[in-house]
Amino acid sequence: MAKIYTISSGKGGVGKTFFSINLSRALSLLNFKTLLIDFNLSTPNVSINLGLGNENNNIHKFLRGEIDIKDCIKEYKENFYIIPGSLDIKDLIYISTEKIHNGIMKLYDDFDYIIIDSAAGIGKEAIEALKASEEVILITNVEKSSLIDAYRVTKVLDNLDIKTFGIVLNKVRKKINYIRIERFFKRQIIGIIHYDENVQISMDNGIPLIDYNINSIASRDIIKIAEKITGKELKIRNSFIDNILKIFKWK
Ligand SMILES: Nc1ncnc2c1ncn2[C@@H]1O[C@H](COP(=O)(O)OP(=O)(O)O)[C@@H](O)[C@H]1O
Ligand SMILES: [Mg+2]
Repeated sequence: MAKIYTISSGKGGVGKTFFSINLSRALSLLNFKTLLIDFNLSTPNVSINLGLGNENNNIHKFLRGEIDIKDCIKEYKENFYIIPGSLDIKDLIYISTEKIHNGIMKLYDDFDYIIIDSAAGIGKEAIEALKASEEVILITNVEKSSLIDAYRVTKVLDNLDIKTFGIVLNKVRKKINYIRIERFFKRQIIGIIHYDENVQISMDNGIPLIDYNINSIASRDIIKIAEKITGKELKIRNSFIDNILKIFKWK
């Protein structure tokens, strides 16, 4: 049975898509079969940030009842599968967002983890993604407005009786007062991701940051979160040291 997490936020631009992609990648490297669903229907970015084009079989077609959800799945890398969104604006019409629940039920047994990248805020499409998940990971930046908007999402989660797995603080550049933030949200912080210039470069190049540079600070931060989720440790090979050991034949 898959564990399903929706990645949600109050504000747009806080790093949901970046986190969804790299969390999924980290889970796949930990040997868990992982599916990332692009459920940001009005502005789907997963394919773009993975260097893919407009995929013919996509979540919009499924939500219009034209294809089976299993036909939308694309293998991106070993253990890392995606369901892309359509980049065509015309595909936004006649979609039934609530179909996602039945769709996900059909995928329960095929994956270890299902990660849903959602729209920001508390509109219909965002709420549907929240309802489709078992638990929500709420991502926020540490600016006041971002924290307040994320807090509004927690109120909706309480009303809908949806569990929060935890809060992730992203683009962090300064020392954080964890206790104050946890008290504010009445929820646990499960990780912080530092501000990292490589994020933008990797996204613009259509490569998950973890593949672009596994030693980059934000890669390491996300791997830590994946390890916390799974209880498994990823052995990052330090290629420089590996090469030296190989030269001296100690490896
Ligand atoms: N940890 C980080 N460090 C630096 N830039 C980041 C970080 N996380 C996200 N970004 C940048 O923030 C922007 C928005 O990220 P994105 O994942 O598209 O947000 P969302 O999906 O929440 O709208 C992108 O330009 C991305 O490069
Ligand atoms: Mg996004």
